[in-house]
Parts: sequence; structure tokens; C-alpha cells
Amino acid sequence: MASFIIKGGLPLSGELRIHGAKNAALPILAASILASGEQEISDVPKLLDIRVMIEILNHLGVKVTHKDHTVSLQTSTLSSTRIPEPLMGKMRSSIFLMGPLLAKYGEVTISRPGGCAIGERPIDIHLDGLKKLGADIIESHGTISCRARQLTGAQIFLRFPSVGATENLMMAASLAKGTTTISNAAREPEIVDLQDYLNVMGARVRGAGTDQIIIEGVEHLTPVSYKIIPDRIIAGTLLIATAITRGEVALTNVRAEHLQALLTNLQTSGIEIRTYNDIMTLKVSRGLRSIDLIETDPHPGFPTDLQALMMAYLSTVEGTSVVKEKVFEGRFRHVDELNRMGTNISTDLNRAYIRGVSRLSGAMVEATDLRAGAALVIAGLKAEGETIVENIHHIDRGYEKLEGMLQALGADIRRSDES
Ligand code: EPZ
Repeated sequence: MASFIIKGGLPLSGELRIHGAKNAALPILAASILASGEQEISDVPKLLDIRVMIEILNHLGVKVTHKDHTVSLQTSTLSSTRIPEPLMGKMRSSIFLMGPLLAKYGEVTISRPGGCAIGERPIDIHLDGLKKLGADIIESHGTISCRARQLTGAQIFLRFPSVGATENLMMAASLAKGTTTISNAAREPEIVDLQDYLNVMGARVRGAGTDQIIIEGVEHLTPVSYKIIPDRIIAGTLLIATAITRGEVALTNVRAEHLQALLTNLQTSGIEIRTYNDIMTLKVSRGLRSIDLIETDPHPGFPTDLQALMMAYLSTVEGTSVVKEKVFEGRFRHVDELNRMGTNISTDLNRAYIRGVSRLSGAMVEATDLRAGAALVIAGLKAEGETIVENIHHIDRGYEKLEGMLQALGADIRRSDES
């Protein structure tokens, strides 16, 4: 298995451009099949999850190429609505194909989706919403078959503001007959990006970014070219990496409005952040302080995807901070690994108590999921000595060459492909 080898102690410095958002590109690539013809989606990062989505689209008969961060698709050759088990198992986001296939072709067959190890990943909110739009859904032995001659608009209330379910239902409703309202919708910026893409194709969607999204179904959507928004979690990762190493960095292609909860917490802790257009600079002033309580919440609350990274940073700040994980159960798997590097973190249920320590020590640790792995990498940037992070395929799912980004900012990190 590949690993990262990190020599800690170097403050990050320099400038880096943030690449397009994985979690915007995945639903948008799925939505492309709502229109038949040539399409170009640009600023799409070269990541494992993107490769899997492209593999699934290829399997459905769509011709797809991914060159220099632009994905070109010919969706008129789609010839299947069945996603085989091995491809479904590779990535949870394959579920994004349900809405578009049902809306455009009236049928889809999938198996229970896979995903990373951050707790139970049910899809009941997706299925309930699709049923409300008129889909007949039959599940047997893990295979889910859906049929709908014509989806019809409906009032849908999400019992939890699920990001994926909001996106899936927006895509399904875009070609339904009549108007759909999704209440208690998720409000993430990636959902706004999907709305903008659908509307450029001729859909009539409004309200994304709020908890109520209204979709007036249309007959037909047109193939277009579109550019993905920057990845706020990558930007957040590099901001926290700069904070933990007490560095000074400028990031470009960043939207401050997508990161308010992180920026507020970093500033509360004593970090200086300035933004000008799409440029963001971060500098560590003296006397960093702990944070009484950070709770993860659906956007615009503190993003669950940055919880592990924030914990690593707070471990190096004097005082006791508390982090409460409210979105996923089981998203504390990085705690044991961080404690092996000298942090002092204890947990009960979904709360973590982080007592600042004066130094971290390099160790051999294991990435258990995408963001937990990133947290171990940034802890390694701070730790004295050498840190080896194993199972970095988890990290490659969400970061296009994380080691390259950090090397560009002066870190001593390299990838070892020893199997
Ligand atoms: C999206 O996952 C992101 N993935 C996740 O990022 C992110 O952590 C998550 O939203 C929360 O922000 C993509 O966008 C591809 P959810 P998603 O549906 O859509 C429960 C990363 O790091 N739930 O909002 O799967 C679910 O179990 C990934 O890039 C149901 O109970 O998240 C969870 O507890 C990790 N039933 C909560 O809702 C459902 O039908 C939030 O899940 C759907 C979800």
C-alpha cells in the first residue's frame, strides 16, 4: 500500500491555486446525462472518485475523456440504465445516477452503494423522495430497481438535510411533469453549483443554498459547457495545515463565502486571515488560543469534512477545546492515530475533548478515511521527526496529489509506492 513520508517542523509558505470541487463535480457529471449530446465540464480534479464516476458513465455507454482537468462527454450514446454491483460498491456517489437515469430514461437499477468508513450510510431519504416523484422502487437481495414512465412534481420534506438526497431529487425533478418543492434541503455550495449547471442546460431551479428548493419540470435539457466551483474542503485543509505549522500562505481560486464557519473559528483561535477577490492569505499571529466548542453542522455550519483536521490543529494550541460531531456517527476514527503522535484527545459519544500539547512526535499511523487521513498528514507536518501515513488511497479519493500541494508550500513530504 502507498504511504506518505513526512518530516515535520517546516512552516508552510508560498502561494497555491485551489482545484475544482470533487463534491460539485460528482453530481454534475451524473446530471450531464439529463441532456443528450457533447458536453465539457472544466476544472474537474483528477481523483479516484472522479475516475470511478467516469468508469460508471463509460459502462452506461457514455463516451467520456478526462484531459487537463476538462471532462468531455458524449451522452447521446448512453445504452444502459443498470449499474453493476462492482462499480456501485466502489463509491457512494454512484447513487447520484438514480435521479438523472429515472428522469431521462424512466428506469435505473443499482445495488446498495458503497462508501468510506464513516458510519452507516443509508439511502432512505433518496428513495423516499424518488417515490414521492412517482418512482416504483423494488428492492431484492441488495438490488434496487426503479421504474417511472413519467416523474411528476411533488412536495418533498427531507427528514435530514442530506446533501446527496437534495442533489439526486433536484436532478430527478428537473424533467418531471409539474413543480417540485424540496423542504429542509441541504444548503451546501455544491448544491448551488448543481442548480447553476442545471439552469444553464435549460432547467428551472431556484432556492439552492436555502432550505427550500423549487424545481419547475421542463421537457428537455440542452448539452452545455460548464466550470466547477473551487473545492472549499481542499482550501480549508491547506488553511489548517498553514495554521498547524505556524506558516504564512496565499491561496487563489478560493470563495471566502463558502468557508465562513472555518474562517470564524480560525480567527477566534488567533489566526489572521485576509481575503481580496478570490485570494485568501493566512498568517499566524502570536498567542493562539483554544476554542470552547465547535459543532459540525450542515452548511453553513462547521463542515464535518474539516472536523478531523481542526482537531489536529487544536491539539497544538494551549488550552482545552471541545469538538462535537453532529453529522456522522463514527467520525472519530482519527483520534487514536492522532494520540499515537502525542496529542491528548479523549472522546465520549460524539464529543471530543482536545487538550493542547507542546509537541507532537512523528509516528507510523494509518489513514482510515479521506479526511482522517488528511488530518494525520497535517499533524505530521507539525510533528518532530518522521511520520509515515499508510493507506493513503483513502486520501487520493479527495485530494489530487496532496503531497504536490504541500511540497509547493515548502513541506518535506513524499509518496512511497512500496506495496
Ligand atoms: C456528502 O455526502 C459529501 N459527499 C460528504 O463528503 C460530506 O461529508 C457529506 O455530504 C456531509 O456534508 C459528496 O458530496 C460526494 P449526507 P452524503 O447525505 O451526501 C444520513 C467527502 O469527504 N443519511 O448529507 O453521503 C447519513 O448517514 C465526503 O468528500 C441518511 O440517513 O452525506 C449521514 O449521517 C465524505 N439517509 C447524514 O445523513 C439518506 O438517505 C449526512 O449524509 C442519506 C443520508
